[in-house]
Amino acid sequence: MSPTAQFLQKLRAALESDAFVKITLSRYHGEEAGLRNIYGRMVELKEGRLLSLVFHHATRDVTKNYSISEAVDQIIGPSLSMAGFESAHLFTTTGDWQLRCHVREEKSTLKASRPVFTLAPEPEHDRRKVQSVAQSAPFLQALGVANSGGEPRPGMADKLRQIQRFVEILGHLLADTALRPADSRELRVLDMGAGKGYLTFATCEFLQKRGLDARVTGVELRADLVALTNQTARQVGYEKLEFVEGAIGAFEAGQVDILIALHACDTATDDALFQGIRAGASLIVTAPCCHKEIRAKLTPPDVLHEIMRHGILHERQAEIVTDAIRALLLEIHGYKASVFEFISSEHTGKNLMIAATKRPHPLAPDLLRRRLHEMLDFYGIREQHLAMLLGELNGVDSAHS
Ligand SMILES: C[S@@+](CC[C@H](N)C(=O)[O-])C[C@H]1O[C@@H](n2cnc3c(N)ncnc32)[C@H](O)[C@@H]1O
Repeated sequence: MSPTAQFLQKLRAALESDAFVKITLSRYHGEEAGLRNIYGRMVELKEGRLLSLVFHHATRDVTKNYSISEAVDQIIGPSLSMAGFESAHLFTTTGDWQLRCHVREEKSTLKASRPVFTLAPEPEHDRRKVQSVAQSAPFLQALGVANSGGEPRPGMADKLRQIQRFVEILGHLLADTALRPADSRELRVLDMGAGKGYLTFATCEFLQKRGLDARVTGVELRADLVALTNQTARQVGYEKLEFVEGAIGAFEAGQVDILIALHACDTATDDALFQGIRAGASLIVTAPCCHKEIRAKLTPPDVLHEIMRHGILHERQAEIVTDAIRALLLEIHGYKASVFEFISSEHTGKNLMIAATKRPHPLAPDLLRRRLHEMLDFYGIREQHLAMLLGELNGVDSAHS
């Protein structure tokens, strides 16, 4: 039996038993423009257990669900035997299989290895996919992200993907809040450090499409960007979107329901988090940028010397500690905080997101506060901008307070 036929047999057997974990097809050389990979996982739908395949393109992902025989015989089999994909990796709980395909089948190879995963994941249920913004949305053209056909302009594919991903995440996070279209009042949304407004416009468009009545304000230091984005907002006809010149920390926020701050520099992220926490925003979404503040202030015990003596590890340690402090401060102040990568590091290095939704009641703030101070003590941190804004630290002499 040829390596490809053996691989397909292993795939079918794994899908028919409960041993299947996932499959990836990569190194595409076929004719479908923009196609890069196919990822497969099991899903549990009304129709039963199906294989869900994500066709990952340069600018979009397309997901389709198939029965086992359709997936193996009509999609994966032909994709491999016609050498569209050069590589396929099957993960099962009993063993992993890596196929290298060649147009001349005798040159194809199949390699077995010990299983990376020994437990199959629970099949995902029919989570309603959050609709991201349509590529034809006029604001994408007005901001130079897409052309009139909805295709990304040269050099803007990653930006478009980032916008789409951000909106998907926003949708999932919103579902975790009490903010609903039925709310009769107008919601207030702030985008701190709005820059060219890509995410501010996307947020405005997304909330409108969701039926939420929202007034969205982008706060930005640079007057030229504020003028440009306000002009674009008028051009696209968003009446409830405006950009205001100013510093995040000095902005008079007032009521805030959703606060966004993506890639605001260094402690500007802390200023934004503080504004959100102080206003009791239902949802706070930030992606920290550079983490300069803590880098020079870490004085951990000697046991971490082997980390701290390497510049890059010192830098990453500072980032991790800073973001852990921020997440913990959010928890102390009544939020459910999560930290995750929101887009592949292939697209941007600044891909960590700290998102927080307001809890009805804070969870054990005293215990969390104690843990915060233990961590600050361990790393010898006596100042951290957000901790000081929230009164959790008073400055150089307060680390033990
Ligand atoms: C890297 S850009 C990010 C723009 C946008 N949030 C995004 O992710 O596409 C950061 C923006 O934040 C602005 N900014 C930095 N510090 C700020 C502050 N303290 N107050 C207001 N804007 C600030 C900068 O001028 C810049 O336009």
